[in-house]
Amino acid sequence: MTSTITTDLFSPVQLGSYTLPNRIVMAPMTRNRSGEGNVPTPLNATYYAQRATAGLIVTEGTQISPQGMGYPATPGIHSLEQIAGWRQVTDAVHSAGGKIFLQLWHVGRISHPSLQPDGALPVAPSAIAPAGNAMTYTGYQPFVTPRALELDEISGIVDQFRQGAKNALAAGFDGVEIHGAFGYLIDQFLQDGTNQRSDRYGGSVENRARFLLEVTDAVCSVWGAERVGVKLSPSNTFNDIRDSDPQTTFGYAIAALKSFGLGYLHLMEPTPADIRHGGKPIPVVEFRPLYPGELIANGGYDKEKGNAAIANGDADLISFGALFLANPDLPKRLRLDAPLNEGDRNTYYGGDEIGYTDYPFLP
Ligand SMILES: Cc1cc2nc3c(=O)[nH]c(=O)nc-3n(C[C@H](O)[C@H](O)[C@H](O)COP(=O)(O)O)c2cc1C
Repeated sequence: MTSTITTDLFSPVQLGSYTLPNRIVMAPMTRNRSGEGNVPTPLNATYYAQRATAGLIVTEGTQISPQGMGYPATPGIHSLEQIAGWRQVTDAVHSAGGKIFLQLWHVGRISHPSLQPDGALPVAPSAIAPAGNAMTYTGYQPFVTPRALELDEISGIVDQFRQGAKNALAAGFDGVEIHGAFGYLIDQFLQDGTNQRSDRYGGSVENRARFLLEVTDAVCSVWGAERVGVKLSPSNTFNDIRDSDPQTTFGYAIAALKSFGLGYLHLMEPTPADIRHGGKPIPVVEFRPLYPGELIANGGYDKEKGNAAIANGDADLISFGALFLANPDLPKRLRLDAPLNEGDRNTYYGGDEIGYTDYPFLP
């Protein structure tokens, strides 16, 4: 007998203790529009509140310490002013009926001395410079060779994540997402192209995953696992990240994360750019058998693909980046098959309300 009830993007879902009204997640997106002191502003609150019909919003990457910063005008969650700034955002989203998780971020080597306290070198698992350029306040500048973290410094960075998680709680968030994707610090530890350590944080996959798992443990100790998500991008080549065997590395990390009982795992699909740069494409569905918990799939999804993935059980929720940026009422537009606004890439990173809070809603 076939069931007539289809689970799709518009079906409610239980995520930990939260019942979300739909399975359409706003993906984390850096917009470089924080105020002085990396403090969220009323304009940022408007932007997020406009998108509160998402089942869940995940904020832009938010640095857990001054050392964790890698781009101009990104928000932090390490000062009282930043906590107060974020409180305006969470209040606005809650008033509009939404739920919002903060993405906790440490960029590691994807920074520049001009963005670091006292002009220090960025830190990383190993002293290997990424190819490419850092985005600084004076334009693009070549990446520098980072300083390899001393063994006894690593627990201090885990503590930065723990403190960021506590601060997110104080700012009124509904949960937090650990940014383990896109070649930033956690990913730098995980993948062997950026981690050449010979201590217990390098070498075997167990050792390379240790930092991710210690951070996850610390953040779960603050929030309870069911209000914590982790984002990983197994196929990504952005930020010059690579691994000699991503299937094994990410398979191990994902299986280890399963035991935490997280709110969700957020996994990115390979993109055409990853493949062009020699990355090994591993579709999210290949990891599904390792992760029977709540899974958010991301990357290049539209309504049809998202509905199919959910109906097949390949994912439980779908996150949308570019589409949510340009369509504040994305769930409504998808439901009605209404036309979608086109995003303007020139205003993705930095600027004011133009290309930020002025995308039109459906009448
Ligand atoms: C402007 C912009 C900024 C982004 N910033 C972040 C970020 O801060 N953290 C993160 O995990 N991903 C970030 N991403 C990636 C998105 O979360 C998402 O993975 C990507 O856009 C693919 O989804 P899509 O095809 O639905 O756009 C960003 C993407 C865009 C377009």
